[in-house]
Amino acid sequence: MDKEILNMEEAAELFNVSIKTFIKLLKEEKVPARKIGREWRFSRQALIQWLSAGDSQQYSSSESDPKEFFDRVAAEWSKLRSGYYDEDVINILQSSGLLEKDMVLVDLGAGDGYLARAVAPSVDTVIAVDISGAMISELRKKAAAEGIRNIQTIVSDGCDVPLEDGSVDLVCANMFLHHIEEPISAVREMGRILKPGGKVFLADLVEHGNKELMEAMHDVWPGFSRKDISDWFVRCGFSIRQFDTLGQKTSGRKAGKKKGGSVFVMTAVKQ
Ligand SMILES: C[S@@+](CC[C@H](N)C(=O)[O-])C[C@H]1O[C@@H](n2cnc3c(N)ncnc32)[C@H](O)[C@@H]1O
Repeated sequence: MDKEILNMEEAAELFNVSIKTFIKLLKEEKVPARKIGREWRFSRQALIQWLSAGDSQQYSSSESDPKEFFDRVAAEWSKLRSGYYDEDVINILQSSGLLEKDMVLVDLGAGDGYLARAVAPSVDTVIAVDISGAMISELRKKAAAEGIRNIQTIVSDGCDVPLEDGSVDLVCANMFLHHIEEPISAVREMGRILKPGGKVFLADLVEHGNKELMEAMHDVWPGFSRKDISDWFVRCGFSIRQFDTLGQKTSGRKAGKKKGGSVFVMTAVKQ
């Protein structure tokens, strides 16, 4: 018979989440629990009741919807972005040796094409995917003004992209993953569309505690730990080639002026 009184580990297991995620939940929500002595105890029944009384609408208000947010800020995105992160990631990608003249590159969460437009001259085709139609319109406008003709665009959820299995050489995603509710679903999709031996170039925020930043940018995740990222990629059939946290000399160069946190850059290969 199932135990009625659970400790923290058992309660996290009941919800099928890590202890870290469960602790975050305890801090952010009114989870039924009591601290007895130094340890938390939970009633299985009360936890299940609490879970069933939840309401998904509460978490999908228009304000927290990335599509609504990015549709709204699309026209001023380049200005907004420059306050948060700079061109370091683009420079690293361009000097990484990952770009080849005959390749098909997908940019997930492409926004106004900050990365897509920069790498387009170095590859055969760029396919820019974004959930926000307004961001994609900005990208098309800017690419046309810059005379770039090899970017195709798709308005789509990056976790369900209308591209064939094994059709892509390189997937790039700059500051996209922390907007995804279940990042592993995006990683799985990267694996699906890549050819065997295809690569991912991922840049995102290192885990941070800056709630203001999260609210201002409508982020779902407060960045990521190296362990979480590595686990998700390995579980989806990748091997990690490189993982660097940009140091003082790169992202920190303008750290005094930038509001964004530290950035990591990772390269993974589909097995
Ligand atoms: C922080 S912006 C980064 C844009 C661009 N990569 C850059 O570096 O400037 C995040 C982008 O991800 C897009 N996005 C958010 N959730 C998405 C999803 N589920 N599928 C596809 N794109 C998404 C947003 O519309 C936005 O354009």
